[in-house]
Amino acid sequence: MGPPGAGKGTQAKLLAKTYGIPQVSTGDILRQAVKDETPLGMKAKTYLSKGELVPDDIMIGIIKDRLQEPDCQKGWLFDGFPRTIWQAIALDTILAQKDLQLDAVVNIYVQQEELIKRLSGRRVCKNCGETFHVIFNPPVQDQICDKCGGPLYQREDDKEETVKRRLEVYQNRTKPLIDYYWEKDLLISVDGGTHSIEDVFKHICYDLSLKMKVKEG
Ligand code: AP5
Repeated sequence: MGPPGAGKGTQAKLLAKTYGIPQVSTGDILRQAVKDETPLGMKAKTYLSKGELVPDDIMIGIIKDRLQEPDCQKGWLFDGFPRTIWQAIALDTILAQKDLQLDAVVNIYVQQEELIKRLSGRRVCKNCGETFHVIFNPPVQDQICDKCGGPLYQREDDKEETVKRRLEVYQNRTKPLIDYYWEKDLLISVDGGTHSIEDVFKHICYDLSLKMKVKEG
């Protein structure tokens, strides 16, 4: 969890690799659907371009289907889900039906000024989705992905007006989930605004290992 630009996608990729589980990014799923012009993509397009949330019933359907896939059978890492109280309640029901529980919820907090800098400088690979930043995490070759050589682009919703709306939506609809997971004793909160990508990653891994030790007794 965390506001737009907090580093959820960046950290989720590192964590998924470390733990050998898939990164289930609802933002990536929606952007792919828009690119492929699927029926889901057609519905989602306007919400994404305005910085609004896609309706809960659509998102819950996507997650139910995604969790049935073979790569999720040994665990997964959500990136960008749940984002509303209703999504969180629906997730509890889905997990209860599978006799599963969340291990932890990682909340990355960053000041608004820093978020705007990050979103305006973010560049994403068109082929593999790898994320860069023109100043904080630049590619070796300008506009070219280090990982696959694909071209980099700026996300449509990283334009100034849409960013403003995404931040408001986060405050009103997603931030209340911090208390929801705090009360369930699942929350790990990490300062993602004043440390490097590597240091934030180390911090998350350390706190996660402590959380897992406590859980295992
Ligand atoms: P989504 O794709 O999830 O976007 P978001 O939440 O707005 O988050 P971002 O992807 O913008 O940021 P991030 O936190 O992943 O940061 P990143 O790692 O890239 O969702 C997009 C849209 O889809 C939503 O607006 C909504 O319409 C829809 N949607 C998705 N899920 C939904 C749901 N569950 N329900 C309803 N609608 C949904 O990092 C940002 C930049 O900072 C990068 O350039 C990176 O290199 C840099 N950076 C990262 N960490 C650091 C660091 N420590 N220091 C310096 N730079 C850093």
